Amino acid sequence: MLGLQWGDEGKGKIVDVMTPAYDVIARFQGGPNAGHTLEFEGRKHVLHTIPSGIFRPNTLNIIGNGVVIDPVILQQEMDDLADYHLDWQKILAVSKKAHLIIPTHRLLDAASEQAKGKNKIGSTLKGIGPTYMDKTGRNGLRVGDLFSPNFKEKYEALRDKHISMLKHYEGFEFDLSDYEPKFFHAVELLKNLTCVDSEQYINELLKSGKNILAEGAQGTMLDIDFGTYPFVTSSNTVTAGTCTGLGVAPSKIKNVIGIFKAYCTRVGSGPFPTELEDEDGEKIRQIGREFGATTGRPRRCGWIDLPALKYSIMVDGVTELTMMKADVLGEFDEIKVCTAYKINGKTMDYVPFDMEDVVIEPVYESVKGWKQDLTGLTNFADAPQALKDYVTYLERILEVPISMVSVGPDRNQTLKVH
Ligand code: GDP
Ligand code: IMO
Ligand code: MG
Repeated sequence: MLGLQWGDEGKGKIVDVMTPAYDVIARFQGGPNAGHTLEFEGRKHVLHTIPSGIFRPNTLNIIGNGVVIDPVILQQEMDDLADYHLDWQKILAVSKKAHLIIPTHRLLDAASEQAKGKNKIGSTLKGIGPTYMDKTGRNGLRVGDLFSPNFKEKYEALRDKHISMLKHYEGFEFDLSDYEPKFFHAVELLKNLTCVDSEQYINELLKSGKNILAEGAQGTMLDIDFGTYPFVTSSNTVTAGTCTGLGVAPSKIKNVIGIFKAYCTRVGSGPFPTELEDEDGEKIRQIGREFGATTGRPRRCGWIDLPALKYSIMVDGVTELTMMKADVLGEFDEIKVCTAYKINGKTMDYVPFDMEDVVIEPVYESVKGWKQDLTGLTNFADAPQALKDYVTYLERILEVPISMVSVGPDRNQTLKVH
């Protein structure tokens, strides 16, 4: 289950809705840059590292090898759920091969962004980029290393290397005295969790007939290879990331569920052809409560972008779609759909390489708004005709069926279409 836009499509909600049909929910990439929101029984939860299957009984949740973990944030997430008296050892397993975000990774992230000035990525500053850099640079520390008698030495060597790197950033001041003790405290808690060879574990589960739902973080347009580089995150958010991030072969993947908003948002810097910097954009932001789940930043809002969506569907091999936040467009007389890009007078319907450097003029078609509050709907058959038409219209262009439509943040506000 993957986000097809620039993240925050509503993955957390849909994973929670779908979990009863699965035995296992597994995160395969990203880290605490993710903020996945779930709402039920009048309560709202935001998860960053923990998979979104955690609230359903009899579900195993796995943090796969492709994820990067900040032990301090993981501990905070677990503490926030203390009321639920969850049996963590039983319901959560962590890959020994998952990389650790250490305190200086966060500092390097901040220093790098500060040095970039107005060209900054708009990172969540959780240390994601520097941690994946150490992974591919073969310097990283992994969860399994925590059990090594010389973990402290390995940690100090990496920390000291980072400190010498930080000294190259002029004017960047830092202080480790607060976060480092918290890190070592949280590490002890992480060691008490079920730490496994997750690729073995997952393949054995598959062999015994268990169903696994891989929960994506971020979105395809933020993928390190296929997103709007360099304004992307540092992992593969696409279907292929499931294979490398869990140790599951491509032949084992059955369905790819792609999730998108009825419009589009982006948080952080980078190209966004359909962005609305006007009243309509503000209206979407307010009605959709488009503020970051991790950082609280206002999200940039715009109309749905079909060239980008088609691109994501192609790269991910999406077999089924879920449309989120249809209720948010309930006050618009007309809804705009970007069907192509006009660049230097030429019309194209795919994402160009130099998206950042060219002026993209979106080509819009207008469809009729449904002008109705959808949040009380329980059956898609009762949906207004204009919404049904919107779904049919998108299905025709995207060439993939939309099987679910979400009409509110609660787990019950989800309609099956087919
Ligand atoms: P994720 O990162 O993909 O899990 O998405 P986020 O949790 O960051 O952002 C999605 C936001 O939209 C959250 O605040 C959800 O509670 C909310 N949400 C999800 N689905 C719907 C929906 O259908 N309608 C409305 N109004 N809000 C929704
Ligand atoms: P979920 O899983 C939206 C964005 C950041 C920034 C860029 C790089 O909740 O959809 P990073 O912290 O990875 O170095 O930031 O990616 N970004 C997200 N935007 N949703 C997310 O996760 C995001 N994770 C990272 O805003 O532009
Ligand atoms: Mg989010």
